[in-house]
Amino acid sequence: MSALTMSTLRKAQSIVLIVASTVAGSALAAGGGGVALETPIIDTGNQKSLQRGAQVFVNHCMGCHTADYHRYSRMAKDLGLSEEETLENFVFTTDKSGEQTKVGSLMANAMTTDYGRQAFGVVPPNLALTARSRGADWIYTYMKTFYLDEERGGVGVNNVVYPGAAMPHVLWEYQGWQKPVYEVQEQDGVETKVMVGLEQATEGTMSPEEYDAMVTDLTAFLAYLSDPIKQQRQRIGFWVMLFLFGMAILTWFLKQEYWKDIRK
Ligand code: HEC
Repeated sequence: MSALTMSTLRKAQSIVLIVASTVAGSALAAGGGGVALETPIIDTGNQKSLQRGAQVFVNHCMGCHTADYHRYSRMAKDLGLSEEETLENFVFTTDKSGEQTKVGSLMANAMTTDYGRQAFGVVPPNLALTARSRGADWIYTYMKTFYLDEERGGVGVNNVVYPGAAMPHVLWEYQGWQKPVYEVQEQDGVETKVMVGLEQATEGTMSPEEYDAMVTDLTAFLAYLSDPIKQQRQRIGFWVMLFLFGMAILTWFLKQEYWKDIRK
């Protein structure tokens, strides 16, 4: 499988994308278009982390993406925020009449699909369920692996897990720019330039650790959006299990009682 993927990739393009620090084989075996994904430690029960993630989301993502299966009021409740705090710090959009979006509204934006298609060639997708369709690891790695790519005219930016993505690197100021590291590898007499990793080209305003922490919070928030009742489900699940366990013990005693005389 990995050999097959390698040769197809080589035919399709002379550059094979592999993330650094992973052996080719294991990288190809992993998901996400043949690239090993990083797994962030996210906790959708941590309201502070979700609040920080929501902040990044409304400030840097909602200009293009919506999450309009979800209401701000629901987010406020789940993240432990008052409606006033939410309106002040998280709602930056306006409704059709030009007034600030209401707290009970869906998390939509003003970008029309026509505009999106014109500007990017594709409409920036609704991100409410992306943590389910792509997975949290994918989103996390995606946000960390934008890099400068001279071969992409126009945009000049590419992404390791989503090659050819139409999205710009919107968090570049924080992360700084990364550039690819190439290595010439020979296989079956054919020399190929293989991308073996990324290195920092320019400094961002954040250290790599701070950037990772920010993207972790953002990923946690997107994971929460895609499954808002997970915490509640787990809480209820605990009591249901406890109840069933208690009932099992009672039932066992009841059975002892019924069979007492028959056994004799
Ligand atoms: C300037 C507009 C713009 C902004 C701002 C933006 N994106 Fe995007 N994003 C796009 C476009 C366009 C695509 C579609 C890319 C494609 O399919 O080629 C996309 C795709 C994505 C995808 C892949 C979705 C999928 O399933 O294919 C994710 C995840 C994503 N964006 C996350 C984010 C996050 C998180 C932020 C905020 C930090 C953000 N985006 C900000 C334009 C934007």
